[in-house]
Amino acid sequence: MSEESLSTVLQQDHSFEPSDEFAAKANGKAEMYAAAEADHEGFWAEQARKYVTWSKDFETTLDWSGAPFAKWFVGGELNVAYNCVDRHVEAGNGDRVAIHFEGEQGDTRTITYADLQKDVAKAANALTSLGVGKGDRVAIYMPMIPETVVTMLACARLGAPHSVIFGGFSAEALHTRINDAEAKLVVTTDGQWRRGKAAPLKAAVDEAMNHGDHPVENVLVVRRTGTDVEWADGRDIWWHDLVDDQPDTHEAQPMDSEHPLFILYTSGTTGKPKGIFHTTGGYLTQCAYTNSVVHDVHPESDVYWCTADVGWVTGHSYIVYGPLANGATQVLYEGTPDTPHQGRWWEIVEKYKVSILYTAPTAIRTFMKWGDDIPAKSDLSSLRLLGSVGEPINPEAWLWYRKHIGGDRCPIVDTWWQTETGAIMISPLPGVTDLEPGSAQKAIPGISAEILDDEGKPFTEPEKVGYLVLTKPWPSMLRGIWGDPERYKETYWSRFGPKYYFAGDGAKYDAKGNIWLLGRVDDVMNVSGHRLSTAEIESALVSHPKVAEAAVVGAADETTGQAVCAFVILRKEAVEEADEPGEGKDLVQELRNHVAHEIGPIAKPRSIMIVAELPKTRSGKIMRRLLRDVAENREVGDVTTLADSSVMSLIKEGMSSGA
Ligand code: WTA
Repeated sequence: MSEESLSTVLQQDHSFEPSDEFAAKANGKAEMYAAAEADHEGFWAEQARKYVTWSKDFETTLDWSGAPFAKWFVGGELNVAYNCVDRHVEAGNGDRVAIHFEGEQGDTRTITYADLQKDVAKAANALTSLGVGKGDRVAIYMPMIPETVVTMLACARLGAPHSVIFGGFSAEALHTRINDAEAKLVVTTDGQWRRGKAAPLKAAVDEAMNHGDHPVENVLVVRRTGTDVEWADGRDIWWHDLVDDQPDTHEAQPMDSEHPLFILYTSGTTGKPKGIFHTTGGYLTQCAYTNSVVHDVHPESDVYWCTADVGWVTGHSYIVYGPLANGATQVLYEGTPDTPHQGRWWEIVEKYKVSILYTAPTAIRTFMKWGDDIPAKSDLSSLRLLGSVGEPINPEAWLWYRKHIGGDRCPIVDTWWQTETGAIMISPLPGVTDLEPGSAQKAIPGISAEILDDEGKPFTEPEKVGYLVLTKPWPSMLRGIWGDPERYKETYWSRFGPKYYFAGDGAKYDAKGNIWLLGRVDDVMNVSGHRLSTAEIESALVSHPKVAEAAVVGAADETTGQAVCAFVILRKEAVEEADEPGEGKDLVQELRNHVAHEIGPIAKPRSIMIVAELPKTRSGKIMRRLLRDVAENREVGDVTTLADSSVMSLIKEGMSSGA
């Protein structure tokens, strides 16, 4: 689409009606909204029995008497791994492909449900032999390979909650997370393929273990890249030595519906990451239901591909638990989109005839930048539905996605949810909803959302900006923050009182009543769909011996949504050094690397500005709003509440002199 016609479409306030053909076969139905509205619990009980096989049926759908701590499907028992694997084999679908694995180097593996059943059984037996049992925590620090999925399912099978830590996190971040969850086993790989190179992975586990104070008894290591690794005898075990010879059958034990399934750390407003934890029955129900009605997965005919990393919640819910519970066939790709060239994803779509693609706006904007001609080289006609998740998708990117990837025919579902919500909450239903580019539109059937003003009053007038809240408990809601119930109450259930779950996102309605999500209202940034906390990066910067004080803001960025911009005040000794010609640049580089070391490369600031002062109110609070103005190159806003109003002009001067 030319620039001109794109802006015409944008001005026209275009919405896209579902085609009759799509609507006729869609899993989502318009009647579901009314059914859920009329009987919230009855609706969810029906989904739980439809999508999940229970070893013991539940007695009570929802127990909210201990609010805000929910219990769903009380008295019910099930095994998640049985639901994701064994029951499909029992139903005669053992030959169906579960995973088409595509390694970055071009190596492939086809894993059927029958294969997966054996692999999970072997891994469950191996974990048992290491003394891992029900309730024990297992840390998983692995790339996008089948063993990662197998390990997660083996943990679920044993009732051992897993804590997956994204492979881009550093040894420091790994250490904090392993200790917080008191994991007794770590599963990792020697290395991972990234942009054609083998990057070490186990090395970070070793570094984390060198801290001494850790609860880990064993480290189980998959050989992936052949990278040399250090070895701690007695502690470290090769996967192929332990797992390969295990019996390939394993009896799955039913777990209580509220048994913890996993912990996943995410950034909050304070420096310490929160261990969000999810349980068994409610989580699986909502993952499977949404994967069916929102992604419209038809397991017998679709090839589904979610491009998220399994280290984030999207990978948990929409690579592992949702699609496998539904018995879907999916693609698992190990590498980056531009290896060996920028058309790699589209070749994968063509090769496996992918019909459903679920990805993030930051990827879509990157593809827009790379050029329309790249996807045009591949046959994308197998696609029939596109999805987006992780951050607001701007209408331009939405329309580009629809035209250049979706061939002007695929519906796009823009899905809003969070690590905390466990599964999709706000999204159109394909085949039902008229689609509005840029808006996640409407709470799905069974979910209730509202927008509140500063005083906590719900409103519906269009274009007024407020706070998104959820007004009824939902099955896949977090059950708390690991080891910190008070923080759970305070973070999510106190801002507007105990009736409202406070999501931390700004939102508005348009004239048609669609919900538009407007980004975080707290000190959480969203960089390429990754959640990062300003406080966490600030404390990483301050832990450097040369830094006295730091302030971090998320500045708008065309590709990544937001970018990390830091302002630091140096300690006196360091100021003198930095003044020497050429030293300032080295120091900035040193600080960026320091953040990568403390948290991980994803948290590296795009820019670091060395300043003499930070803008503070009289009560000493840093005014990030003003720093954001600087970082986004805007006229600086109202400075009257600053203790010293000259600070901002000093910072601006520093900017223009290139400090
Ligand atoms: C943002 C990712 C707008 C939002 C599943 C939320 C979105 C945070 C959307 C959660 C969307 C996610 N439109 N914003 N469709 N999806 N977000 O925990 O700010 O990594 O609070 O979960 O991402 O990020 P998280």
